[in-house]
Amino acid sequence: MRIGVTGKGGVGKTTIAATMARLFARRGYAVNALDGDPNPNLAAALGIPPDALARLVRVPHEGVMEERTEPGGGTSLHLTRPFEEVVDEFGAVGPDGVRTLTMTGLLGAGKGCICGQHGMVRGFVGDLGAVRPDDVTILDTEASIEHLSRGTVRTVDTLLVVAEPYFRALQTLGRIVPLANELGISQTYVVANKVRSDWDESTIREYAERLGSTVIASIPYDEEAADADRRAESMLDAVPDSPAVAAIDELVSTLVQARRGTRAAATAPALAPLANAQTT
Ligand SMILES: Nc1ncnc2c1ncn2[C@@H]1O[C@H](COP(=O)(O)OP(=O)(O)OP(=O)(O)O)[C@@H](O)[C@H]1O
Ligand SMILES: [Mg+2]
Repeated sequence: MRIGVTGKGGVGKTTIAATMARLFARRGYAVNALDGDPNPNLAAALGIPPDALARLVRVPHEGVMEERTEPGGGTSLHLTRPFEEVVDEFGAVGPDGVRTLTMTGLLGAGKGCICGQHGMVRGFVGDLGAVRPDDVTILDTEASIEHLSRGTVRTVDTLLVVAEPYFRALQTLGRIVPLANELGISQTYVVANKVRSDWDESTIREYAERLGSTVIASIPYDEEAADADRRAESMLDAVPDSPAVAAIDELVSTLVQARRGTRAAATAPALAPLANAQTT
């Protein structure tokens, strides 16, 4: 399973990606947590200690990926080294055995754009799916829709669009879902986060439905969870019994069931794939 996590700035992408990664790992999956945000903080959210954080190095293009010509004439980037070697050299193995890599990063002040990194992430995630099909790979993304317009997330099979119940976050949701459909991502779901009331939840649900999408999980606003970040702690370590963690755990169970359903070619009405759903 290759899961991309996207949404407007600050909606909770990294918190959800990190918590999901560890909860999948606790269910026995081999989990790869990839940070696709050039302002990376997934490793910290996973609870990797500061000394190990300091040793994380952005995965370079050179020596790790190579450009290949596609049958249609285009080019794409592919892994040239065993994934385990890449983790050993540039990454870290975090709590619950989650393998973590920082995939993108700025080149420096005034040093230009990082467009090439988008193609690298796309190729890396796609190849991971091919060489380690039973792994769960979670890609945290930046607060931008560039990873959709550039097709960075094209190689995920599940895209979670995190939304908060306020208008501008919903506007972003309204832009992301049609782009995800255009990319042909097989399953795109909405995750409602920081939900404080039934009204919050139904607002996100109705908005998602108008886009032909489905809310796969509703995570409550949780002051304790917010406090964990104030103390620079992972939410799972700081407040393991919190309602937010319980909701993310339920999300992981739902994704596991959806995957089993997909594999058995069964159809679960509440979780029917939403690819190419018509938008209104
Ligand atoms: N359910 C929740 N309840 C309360 N606070 C939350 C919840 N989810 C996330 N937060 C808090 O919201 C803040 C932003 O979360 P996070 O960094 O995960 O968002 P993000 O979408 O990854 O942000 P960015 O766009 O900058 O990457 C953090 O302080 C986090 O602790
Ligand atoms: Mg983030």
